[in-house]
Amino acid sequence: MNNALDVLFNRKSTRQYTGKPVSVEDLTTLIRAGMAAPCSRGQKCWYFIAVNDQAVIAKLAAGLPYAQMILSAKHAIVVLADLNLAHGGAEVPYWIQDLSAAAENILIAAEARGLGACWTGVHPRPERVEFLCQALDLPPQVMPLCVIAIGQSAGVEKARDKFDPTRIFWNHWKQK
Ligand SMILES: Cc1cc2nc3c(=O)[nH]c(=O)nc-3n(C[C@H](O)[C@H](O)[C@H](O)COP(=O)(O)O)c2cc1C
Repeated sequence: MNNALDVLFNRKSTRQYTGKPVSVEDLTTLIRAGMAAPCSRGQKCWYFIAVNDQAVIAKLAAGLPYAQMILSAKHAIVVLADLNLAHGGAEVPYWIQDLSAAAENILIAAEARGLGACWTGVHPRPERVEFLCQALDLPPQVMPLCVIAIGQSAGVEKARDKFDPTRIFWNHWKQK
């Protein structure tokens, strides 16, 4: 197997961390990987807030019950869209797809760097969106998609093989 596929198949959601620090360089590399994702019309409507201040981590964890692992991960990347950029001139806004591609790139890059990561959902749950907009003082045109926990993995979780050949059809929806 080549290295890229090795990394991809080893990616897993990590919820147990050692709490050791992740460098600014590594966090920047992960965001760089996010920005390498494909995006509709090349519009790059994404923004990223890297969080390594523990007061901000605690504030986010207080309002996001399903993102409690950020407390031990100690770092997070919030993936956001500027809706003015996403909608500007576009017939169809693809910001969710653009940001999802960026988020997945960040998860894979974390695996490649030997770091743990976990996507935690925000959009389209209104209460989580509203909480993040207030907690991070976001301007009205900025929409958060997800918060990704980033940290040094404790090495507990292993990737699961989710391959299911019965979910593949060839040429038609169902084999006749
Ligand atoms: C849109 C989305 C939202 C998710 N939200 C959460 C979440 O709020 N908290 C969490 O612990 N994991 C969350 N996850 C991670 C999933 O639970 C995880 O990807 C899934 O169980 C498959 O496991 P794996 O990532 O290890 O392959 C989310 C994943 C996605 C794609």
